[in-house]
Amino acid sequence: MLGGKLPRIDGPLKVSGRAVYTSDVSLAGMLYAVPVRSTIAKGRIVSIDAAAARKLPGVRAVYYRGNLKPFFRSAPPQGFSGLIDEKRPPFEDDEVRYYGQYVAVAVAQTMEQATAAAAAVRVRYTTDAHNVDRHLVAAKPLETESQRGDADAAFKSAPVQVDQTYVTPDEVHNPIELHATVAAWDGDSVTLYETSQAVMNHREVLRQMLGVPKENVRVVSHFLGSGFGGKLWPWTHSILAAGVAREVGVPVKLVVTRQSMFEAVGHRPRTQQRFRIGASRDGTLQSIHHEYLNQTSVLDDYKEECGESTPFLYSVPNLRVASALSRANVGTPTAMRGPGAVPGLFAMESAMDELAIALKMDPIELRRRNEPKLDESSKLPFSSRHLLECMQVGAEKFGWARRDPRVGAMKRDGLTVGWGMAACAWGAMRDNAQASVEIRRDGTAQVKTATQDIGTGTYTVLAIVTSEATGIPVDRIDVQLGDTALPPGPISGGSWATASVIPAVSSAARAAVQALLGMATSGPSAPFKGAKPDDLQLVNGRVSRKSDPSAGVPLGDVLARANVRAATGSGQSSTTIGGEESRKYSLHSFGAQFAEVTWQPETARLRVSRFVSVIDAGRMINPKPARNQIEGAVVMGIGMALFEEARYDKRYGAPINSNLADYIVSTNADAPPIDVTFLDYPDKVLNELGARGVGEIGLAGTAAAITAAVHHATGVRVRELPVRIEDLLRA
Ligand code: MOS
Repeated sequence: MLGGKLPRIDGPLKVSGRAVYTSDVSLAGMLYAVPVRSTIAKGRIVSIDAAAARKLPGVRAVYYRGNLKPFFRSAPPQGFSGLIDEKRPPFEDDEVRYYGQYVAVAVAQTMEQATAAAAAVRVRYTTDAHNVDRHLVAAKPLETESQRGDADAAFKSAPVQVDQTYVTPDEVHNPIELHATVAAWDGDSVTLYETSQAVMNHREVLRQMLGVPKENVRVVSHFLGSGFGGKLWPWTHSILAAGVAREVGVPVKLVVTRQSMFEAVGHRPRTQQRFRIGASRDGTLQSIHHEYLNQTSVLDDYKEECGESTPFLYSVPNLRVASALSRANVGTPTAMRGPGAVPGLFAMESAMDELAIALKMDPIELRRRNEPKLDESSKLPFSSRHLLECMQVGAEKFGWARRDPRVGAMKRDGLTVGWGMAACAWGAMRDNAQASVEIRRDGTAQVKTATQDIGTGTYTVLAIVTSEATGIPVDRIDVQLGDTALPPGPISGGSWATASVIPAVSSAARAAVQALLGMATSGPSAPFKGAKPDDLQLVNGRVSRKSDPSAGVPLGDVLARANVRAATGSGQSSTTIGGEESRKYSLHSFGAQFAEVTWQPETARLRVSRFVSVIDAGRMINPKPARNQIEGAVVMGIGMALFEEARYDKRYGAPINSNLADYIVSTNADAPPIDVTFLDYPDKVLNELGARGVGEIGLAGTAAAITAAVHHATGVRVRELPVRIEDLLRA
């Protein structure tokens, strides 16, 4: 079973439309809320006139600062609890800090009526000059994050130098499922149906902001049409929906519009990264100096950790990573798939490719010569690192040995072909988790934990793990997720849900089996009275002596004889972040990305035509959805390299391409054949099954591999994403 290729068990529910997503939730008497969005990016609200809006058909109320019960701020987070990006609650003051900030909210019987009412609310502002500049300026002097040796001196004396600045744009997560909240109060308690990648955290933040006890908030998120990090922490619409529902006394649904999703639910911020590498003529790295800025809002300090991989990916005696924030009148950014490392690796791996060209050295050979023996920043051994093998296997699959390194030298079918590669890494982490497993008389089992499935296959993986531990077939296992009423589970983020939940679920399943075997040996009607539980086994739904497997009793009979409804077990796992064993190791996943592009100069047509991704992420519990994760990430990486950028209108400070027609993402036509290989090195430091996550690493390094291929085909080095036709016309 483990290592099998099971399709998602929730697949049939989804393709038949029976999976209930947040915006599908419909409750008796429910009203619709539509926020009024500011039409300025900086200034103050002078007045709000809702008289005309209130007279429109179906309108129940219009709320704004002054007529809605205020919200509290949530206290600073403790660990992974209490996290929120935009900390200011809606309507806290009259100041506007970004275009699209919620300034009022209309409530009506239908979505259309609420939309019309929101449009009829008249808001007057005083306007100040806003800043949505594309050029980032440090708000404070850069702070050093990581340092060893003397990066500056070593760079100056290095015989071969690369000194370039790389820019990545504002990217918007754009999951197809819009963010949404349905809030339903019952007395002082509220249930929130929510598009959340972290229901436990959502409950903690909301109970603080609403000022109610924790027991009074339940957050439910059964299915997600993905999130990419945008749904990790609560956004203002959720608090607003809960507050409005409390006021009107009936359930309220608020679905964020696509346009608003460019303004008020986070994005990957713009980064500007100066990368200096100094090397000897034989390619030995002497110095790495990575200085970067990322944009954040004027409200919050969101940091894009671009230096995440820089200190440990290669061996280098002199290194400095330093950063600062740059502020603008934009919504608060947030984590997006591979936050920090993904834009950071675009810079580092592009710089490495430029260095390889300066050295006239194969880019794989350059990386091979600088493979570290240990994590030189923490001085710890890697728990499991097979980057060289990723590059070697990738090179073989891709046919890298046939590469002619001269620019524009490779042709096929009248097209110029470019080949590029990049290495990548992503942290391997886990968080606390609890789970329970119940084995029932009918031979089925139920698993419960309050983590979520964002579409990555968590339901399926947990069914597999439970089946493995109990011998109960996957189709007889019911997995319950996405509800704060279940045993606390981790966020679906950071690629650590699988690594975190598996140990808890597998120990719960084993405990349930032990409970069942205990019942089989003790009690007046026990079938194996007098035997020791250790002498028994549960195989194919039957309890038997290990010494006599043929003479078994169905598990349902064991429970019936004990007059017990079900055998239950609970399990938990704890974080290794700071845990004893993991403190001795540096834990990361690694990979190598290989891209082929075709370039047709006559029509300025660029395509990614082939991609090979080799990933070292421990053991794959279910390779089929794991492969889907890498394929999806590569497709997203093509978007990052060639298409995606949210742009702001300088005059109004508004995102101007705030829809899926103008904000371009990869489509099927842009997706080439993608060859995914997983190296199979279980990482037992991280968990007993050796599984690391794969949600993010497929995006790391991908854009750098593509721009390296673009350079190989065209001779143009694009250092500011996305690659534009205009850039290539210089070719
Ligand atoms: Mo991911 S950006 O941690 O959902």
